[in-house]
Amino acid sequence: MCGIIAAVSSEEEVASILLEGLKREEYRGYDSAGVALLNGKGAIVVRKDAGRVGQLEQRYNFAELGGRVGIAHTRWATHGGVSQKNSHPHLSCKGLVAIVHNGIIENYLDLRKELQSRGHAFTSQTDSEVIAHLMEEEYEKDRDPVRATVAAAKVIRGQYAFVALFSDRPGLLVGARYDAPLVVGMGEKTKFLASDVLAFLAHTDMAIFLDNKEIVELTTEGARIFTLKGKELDARSRKATRVAWELGSLSKESYAHYTLKEIHEQPNSVQSALAQDPEIVSAVADRLKSAKSVVLTASGSSYHAALLMRIRLAAEAKMRCEVVLSGDFERELPFIDDETVVVALSQSGETADLLEAVKKAKSRKVGGVVSLVNAAGSSLARQSDQTLLLNCGPEVGVAATKSFTAQVMVGNLIIDKMTGKDTIGNPYKLGTLVEKALATEQMMSRLAHEYRDRADFYFIARGGHYPIAQEGALKLKELSYIHAEGMSAGELKHGTLALIEKGTPVVVIAPNGHGYDDTISNAQELAARGAEIIGVAQKTHPVFTHTVRIPASNGSFAPVLEVVPLQLLAYFMATERKNDPDHPRNLAKSVTVK
Ligand code: F6R
Repeated sequence: MCGIIAAVSSEEEVASILLEGLKREEYRGYDSAGVALLNGKGAIVVRKDAGRVGQLEQRYNFAELGGRVGIAHTRWATHGGVSQKNSHPHLSCKGLVAIVHNGIIENYLDLRKELQSRGHAFTSQTDSEVIAHLMEEEYEKDRDPVRATVAAAKVIRGQYAFVALFSDRPGLLVGARYDAPLVVGMGEKTKFLASDVLAFLAHTDMAIFLDNKEIVELTTEGARIFTLKGKELDARSRKATRVAWELGSLSKESYAHYTLKEIHEQPNSVQSALAQDPEIVSAVADRLKSAKSVVLTASGSSYHAALLMRIRLAAEAKMRCEVVLSGDFERELPFIDDETVVVALSQSGETADLLEAVKKAKSRKVGGVVSLVNAAGSSLARQSDQTLLLNCGPEVGVAATKSFTAQVMVGNLIIDKMTGKDTIGNPYKLGTLVEKALATEQMMSRLAHEYRDRADFYFIARGGHYPIAQEGALKLKELSYIHAEGMSAGELKHGTLALIEKGTPVVVIAPNGHGYDDTISNAQELAARGAEIIGVAQKTHPVFTHTVRIPASNGSFAPVLEVVPLQLLAYFMATERKNDPDHPRNLAKSVTVK
């Protein structure tokens, strides 16, 4: 995963810009951080260490480090433990080149051996360091940064986005991408290369989204773009575009954490998700209707949104439809042909498993790829035939919250178009309903306090609500680090009931309507074995130890109202247990490794 930010400026020193950019990218990984700057004396100075960006800032005096060009990195360790040596940037033997890298170099051991046999000394256990040595070896030949990058790209195998800084090129950076994101920020005085626009959005909203397999040479004058083979591309075809996300959405405002702020943004974000171009929605609906089958694919929370979409696609649009975890996509391949449409759901649009799934689907000449994605210009958006953006603004907290509910809304919009029904109605009313669901906040905080020390949690629901039980459990696991399981209510008696003891908390999602009585019977079975039932429902019931009241709504919107209190529960569990909800341990927001 890892986050990269690099800057080259004609007027200002870039250390503080890089540190600020790194903080915006910490959602990509946060076990170590580092910065390399080219000082006025032609030397690359590296400051890096294990720990968060804030700790790095305290450890070193960045104010005394000049330099108008630099690269920086926040790490999510893959090869080599969390240590200062393994932190990026990595410097070449002679100090000529420093690099930062996101991705995995699969053949690094072979390359390392070859480089060592030619006299290169390695200082880390990372796969990334080979890039610095390869670049130096090539750069020394004719001092051509792009040619050196082409030569390095030719021998490395795997996925990467990397940026290099050269000790004798004060106004220049080069970057390359292969199956990992890299975006150019085109500020007036300062230009950027980053894994994500969020890293430079405070300085410019003009961005060039590099295509896969491209190299960029960036100076204060502008960007030149090349293929990985070194062929320069026509500058006119690569104009910067304005990124729609507002700067305000990058601050926590009065909230203690981004996660809480993003949960609270949902009354608006469920509405903005519906602000789609009607022609694209119609075209997507027509494409799906004309398909023989639909395969939905996603990971994590996006997978749960896909499960919800499948339920309506099958029941209401009568589509033959499968949901496949992106990491398992291979198993679906025999059933994919030109009459299948693939729908890919993702917040980041950079999830490696998902991109791989789309690639595999395309190799089967699939009848179209439709994506529901938050990040415009992401790899997924660029690889899709049709894209509907989630329009929920940047999601900074690692746990998906508003992007999940936005996916549910966009899915509903498509299905309503396919069926000719209007299950959405007045979007403004939806906002009011979400506000009512948010009114459970104090109760969820109290419940978190009461249940903060439990070892296990269960979430159950039936039919179209079951994916919310799964999503509630996932949120709780990742934010509180408490073991949790989301189950189909009827399935309990087939094994899991054996785990229920006196005091085991079970969240029972029991909205009015079809399946209510059966769900309540399951709650009774649990209570009879000592479970404490937290009912998420429109009305209380004697079997509930606690009732979390959610507003009534129609079927397609109900999952949104059910998940909001569960997001709050997970958030407060994290704060009760002194976890950082924005940065859960071991996780990264954009999972760009397979
Ligand atoms: C859970 C979470 C992850 C993501 C998953 C997919 O809160 O954030 O499970 O949902 O990594 O990411 P995207 O949606 O970016 O493809």
